[in-house]
Amino acid sequence: MNRKITVISLSALFIFASCADNTTDPNVSEESFFATEVQPILTTHCVSCHGGTNGVTLSSYASIMSSTGSDLGKTVIAGDADNSPLVQVLEGTANGIVRMPQGGAALSESQINSIRAWINDGAKNE
Ligand code: HEC
Repeated sequence: MNRKITVISLSALFIFASCADNTTDPNVSEESFFATEVQPILTTHCVSCHGGTNGVTLSSYASIMSSTGSDLGKTVIAGDADNSPLVQVLEGTANGIVRMPQGGAALSESQINSIRAWINDGAKNE
């Protein structure tokens, strides 16, 4: 058989196989950038204080998207990291709010950049 065609067919099969995994349930993507890069940071550094159901709630995708602080308002503004309180508190630029995590070491630049990238990409769970 023509070697080139074999390689192309194998690549197509591989791409199809890797997509198939993600299309099982479009609403629950366990391997999303959010699930692998964003939630673990918040779970480790924030949920001890913001894991409830009122105010700033950071324990799941749904709670993050509805999270609203009494001072800064909606925690995540999809598509706009600069104006999202979630980013502002990490960078210590939020008006009147101490840098988060309160009493803990600042997150690394790469952790903050992951959160920035996620928000600027639309804050999706995919
Ligand atoms: C030790 C407890 C504690 C931890 C851990 C913590 N916070 Fe906070 N957070 C607070 C308190 C207390 C306030 C209110 C602070 C203030 O008014 O200055 C607050 C305020 C906030 C606000 C603004 C709320 C508003 O009123 O608009 C945001 C957003 C926030 N935190 C996000 C985070 C994030 C993100 C993390 C993890 C990186 C985090 N916090 C970790 C205790 C904590």
